[in-house]
Amino acid sequence: MSETLEISLTVNGREQRRSVPVRMTFADFLRHELGLTGTHLGCEHGVCGACTVLIDGRSARSCLTLAVQADGCNVSTVEALSTDGKLNPLQQAFQDHHGLQCGFCTPGFLMLAVNVLERQPDIGDDELLDVLSSNLCRCTGYQNIIKAVRAARDEMRKT
Ligand code: FES
Ligand code: FES
Repeated sequence: MSETLEISLTVNGREQRRSVPVRMTFADFLRHELGLTGTHLGCEHGVCGACTVLIDGRSARSCLTLAVQADGCNVSTVEALSTDGKLNPLQQAFQDHHGLQCGFCTPGFLMLAVNVLERQPDIGDDELLDVLSSNLCRCTGYQNIIKAVRAARDEMRKT
C-alpha cells in the first residue's frame, strides 16, 4: 500500500485538507480529489503545458508537481478566472480572437498568459511569443492564441 500524507492548501480561495498518496501528481489531485477538471492533462511529462496552474503566484506544470509539494501553498486554477459567470479579460480575448479550436490546451495557455501579464504588463511581442512557446496546441492554432494574448495585454494596459 502506498504511503499517504496529509496536506492542507488553498485552492481558488478555499482551504482544502486531504490525505494523499505521496506519489500522486498535483494534476490528479486537482482533477480527482477536488473535481477541478478544467486543468487538462496532455503529455503528462512536462512538455505540453496543458496542466499549467499557478502555485504561489507562479505558473507550474501540475503533472510534474506532486500533490505533497503543494502543501501550504496558494493555488489558482482556470476555474478561478471568471467571476459570477463573467469572463476575465483574457478569456474574453480568446473568445473574441478565436484563440481556441478544440479548447484542450486553452486552460494551460490561459493560466500561463494570465500570470505573465500580471507579472510583466509591459511585456513586448517577442518576449510574449517566447513565453507562450512553452505550451503546445495540438490544433496548431497558435496565431489566434498569440493574437488573443496580445489583445488582452493591450486592453489591460488601458485600465
Ligand atoms: Fe503537464 Fe503536458 S500534461 S506538461
Ligand atoms: Fe486544440 Fe489547442 S485548441 S489543442
